[in-house]
Amino acid sequence: MPATTPTLRLLKAEDVLDGLRGLRARQPVKFWAFYSSQLGGVVTDPALMVIPFDDHMVHRGHGIFDTATLIGGKIYDLEAHLDRFIRSAERSNLQLPASREQMRDIIVRTTAASGRRDGAIRYWMSSGPGSLELSPAAGAEPGFFVMIFAGLSYPDRWYTEGLRVMTTTFPIKPPLYAITKSTNYLPNVLMQMEAKKAGLDNGVFIDEAGHVGESSNMNVAFVTRDGVFRHPKFDHILSGCTSLRLLELAPALVQRGFITGVEVCDIPVDEARAAREMMLIGSSIKVASIVEWDRARIGDGAPGPVAKALLELLEEDMRSGRDRLIDVPY
Ligand SMILES: Cc1ncc(COP(=O)(O)O)c(C=O)c1O
Repeated sequence: MPATTPTLRLLKAEDVLDGLRGLRARQPVKFWAFYSSQLGGVVTDPALMVIPFDDHMVHRGHGIFDTATLIGGKIYDLEAHLDRFIRSAERSNLQLPASREQMRDIIVRTTAASGRRDGAIRYWMSSGPGSLELSPAAGAEPGFFVMIFAGLSYPDRWYTEGLRVMTTTFPIKPPLYAITKSTNYLPNVLMQMEAKKAGLDNGVFIDEAGHVGESSNMNVAFVTRDGVFRHPKFDHILSGCTSLRLLELAPALVQRGFITGVEVCDIPVDEARAAREMMLIGSSIKVASIVEWDRARIGDGAPGPVAKALLELLEEDMRSGRDRLIDVPY
């Protein structure tokens, strides 16, 4: 907003469009295609990628979302992301706006409309517009939105030198909310901002029992001193699709001598701090080593070989995991 309060004009529809275009001109975005069930189609002009303010997803956070990766003209692991999307909808008491097959088809066709071969696909389900109350408005139609965009990007340094993280001072979400991928990310946002303010890269949630939780939009995993790849249980954190896939792929690293085993269990903070390796895992970051936690070194303070090997396994799966890739019909 300008320093002085402008006169309040009564805007016509064309003025609103100009205003939205002005916003985008001041702050260019890499949003390539957007489907809205409310608009009944796909738009490619970012100024038109809008949701009515009275949708309860906007003013009450009654909505859910998920994100899948677009790689080389194929969508990776969409079924796993759709499973989680539908589970999140059920837990949030959201009515499905369409069948799973229809939603998958809309996601695939919106991707085709973008013309892009690499990026990210985020989709939302909303409770719908119609009032400023809490429960869905009378006659509210649940919304479905799909965005094809450039994806989140992280500094190269995270991969070459590793990340520095801190235990957040913000409480972890109670399990029901942590396992549901709703649009309520306030603790996650506050955690990441707190870490950045402290000159660090991200935060880590610890639960009330003193077990490691997760990071802002990523899971956390470890390699113990005796070489076990250890991941926190998924009953109090989000079931990361990337972590779940890596837990399936990791046994190959036992055979190759990188690790001695794979375990999903509660991880007490003290044990975690003694790890040989610590890493962040997620669709956007993939796999990156944490080299410092609360100002103390993890392992020898350099990115570790297991994180690197897991990243390679994941990248290979993303390129050629035939049963996990959907072709986009451009
Ligand atoms: C809180 C949280 N934990 C973990 C993850 C990692 O999940 P995924 O591997 O499906 O990206 C995400 C990202 O979706 C997240 O938001």
